Amino acid sequence: MVLNKGKDLSKVKILLEEGHLVGIPTETVYGLAANAFNSEAVTNIFKAKQRPAFDPLILHTNSLEKIKTFVSDIPPIAYKLAQAFWPGPLTLIFQKKQLVHDIVTSGLDTVAVRIPRHPLTLQLLSLLDFPLAAPSANPFGYISPTTADHVLTHLGDKVGYVLDGGACEVGIESTIVGFPNNEPTVYRKGGVEIEAIESIIGKVTVNEHSNSQPQAPGMLKKHYSPKTSLVIGHINTLLDKHQEKRIGILSFQKSYNETHYSKQIVLSPKGDLAEAAKNLFTALRELDNSPLDIIISELLPEQGLGVAINDRIKRAAVAEQH
Ligand code: TXA
Ligand code: MG
Repeated sequence: MVLNKGKDLSKVKILLEEGHLVGIPTETVYGLAANAFNSEAVTNIFKAKQRPAFDPLILHTNSLEKIKTFVSDIPPIAYKLAQAFWPGPLTLIFQKKQLVHDIVTSGLDTVAVRIPRHPLTLQLLSLLDFPLAAPSANPFGYISPTTADHVLTHLGDKVGYVLDGGACEVGIESTIVGFPNNEPTVYRKGGVEIEAIESIIGKVTVNEHSNSQPQAPGMLKKHYSPKTSLVIGHINTLLDKHQEKRIGILSFQKSYNETHYSKQIVLSPKGDLAEAAKNLFTALRELDNSPLDIIISELLPEQGLGVAINDRIKRAAVAEQH
């Protein structure tokens, strides 16, 4: 078998320079990366993920100096956030320079940018003279990958190599903040808590996404979804209601031992939200790979990282709309 993952940075550098796709680790989730300045390579990202062209990509690089070469106008509050949270699970949206192709931004005049915190990927980015366009390395709409093997499972035939940086430390995607009319606006809840952002720049607007009226392209209500249907509620009530089925339980802290179920995953027995975030996507994949009729899940405390975790669980639960 060809070993398609490892820590070979020079191999990754060459593959990217030649326009190939590579899986890269970040502290949030694994990315499906390509040279952002090579439009053919970027087109292949959309093809590999079966991602609609209206859903723009995030550019990853390792310094503010490099970012300034392809964005114009960084508002002062954005500098404050960059200083506080980069490298880290925060994506900022800026006006783009012409250098950034329309295909990356789905025709928008803004571009999303992030300096990730994973040491291997930071090292890789420091070796490159172009940013990496990288969405999460999952087929569009499916659960995001938090290990190299997750990437290989679904996109193994599409990537030249996966840079293996172990399991992602944060486990859910970055928080996305834009500045329409200089108003800091959260477009996606993620690895940096809203409370932490507000402690730096004061009150922010949170812009919830929807299918019917997306405020920005790609912010779809249904996402991060297992193939098995997932319902949210009180675990005991749902256990009663679905007695006849093969049930998978996803809970925060508590385990359910006396009842009937086929599989159970507790996200954090000690009740730690960061640990729960780290385990969330692996847990959803594991449940989805088990012979179950239904996954039942509770919501977590709606504070700190719990807000972003609940956002992912709610999207996983949205029924397929045709
Ligand atoms: O943690 C992360 O952000 C991961 C890792 C790999 O960095 N990446 C990630 O990318 O989650 P992706 O493509 O799965 O999600 C990017 C989100 C999409 O919802 C997209 O619509 C939004 O960012 N986005 C990108 N550019 C935008 C822009 N100019 N304006 C508004 N939203 C934008
Ligand atoms: Mg994604």
